[in-house]
Amino acid sequence: MKQLVELADEYEANPRKRIPDTSKARAIRTYYEWELLPFRDIKKYESVKERYIRDKNEAIRRIESLEHLGRRKQFAEAKKLTECLNDEVGENYDLTVACGIWETDITLLSILAENLDDNDRLIVDCGCGTGLDLNALALLFPDKKFIGYDISTEQIDAAKKRTSRSGNKNVGLFVGNHRDDFFPLEPNSVDVMYFKHATWEEEFIPGYMEEIRMDKSARFRLMQSRYKNARRLLKDDGTLVLMGMINLPLDKCRYISSLMPGFERTNSIFLDEHKVITYYIASYQKT
Ligand SMILES: C[S@@+](CC[C@H](N)C(=O)[O-])C[C@H]1O[C@@H](n2cnc3c(N)ncnc32)[C@H](O)[C@@H]1O
Repeated sequence: MKQLVELADEYEANPRKRIPDTSKARAIRTYYEWELLPFRDIKKYESVKERYIRDKNEAIRRIESLEHLGRRKQFAEAKKLTECLNDEVGENYDLTVACGIWETDITLLSILAENLDDNDRLIVDCGCGTGLDLNALALLFPDKKFIGYDISTEQIDAAKKRTSRSGNKNVGLFVGNHRDDFFPLEPNSVDVMYFKHATWEEEFIPGYMEEIRMDKSARFRLMQSRYKNARRLLKDDGTLVLMGMINLPLDKCRYISSLMPGFERTNSIFLDEHKVITYYIASYQKT
């Protein structure tokens, strides 16, 4: 993996510049359009979103009511509820992406694709959802092997259907949690592991994100448990890539994920797309 260096320089010089119009970026756009445009139904999206917000608030209230049992119990419940909520979203996830802000997702994935190199043989999508990114990459790189896992069985089922529809033979899928102790992958075997919008369950715990912001050791423990498998499974010269969005304007988000136990950040690109939300892609190597 090229550690995003070349593109990072370009973005630093002009953060508003979009991904260069390469053939890989164009292929990813075409795949997204092909897969998502048939799902575009704004009315249905609004009602799915409404239901999701209602269920999420209910989940938060449920976890709040467990406060007397302590953080560990709250986390266990949050994990269960994340599974259920994402199962529920399952078949509607494509609709959500199709009606949401997917332009930036295409850019993030294109940056990743541009930076994969010949040595990257095995690539893992952590929290792969319905397998959109995995399959777009698998079509672009038929000689590489792609594996995805997700906490939600429904999403993995949808990803399996998408994979067989796309005809990709180089994609493997399984149900798993970032924090699981058992993973059907060999230690030190993976070249690239990436997370895209895939670290959610802690959001359900009231006050937890606030605590994380205030307390470095809580943040350290969270990062350690979330990325322990990435640390174990990546080759020594492998790359971890984080992509997503932060609810902060560009000038306030430079600190992002500078604290990553067992990893050091090698580069990052920030896309100031929506003033209050900044999209980012950052690469890390094992220390
Ligand atoms: C917003 S979706 C993103 C899916 C996909 N990465 C994408 O960018 O389209 C978040 C996904 O992360 C999964 N997820 C959340 N917490 C997880 C965990 N602890 N372990 C594995 N998957 C998780 C959810 O089930 C969901 O499919």
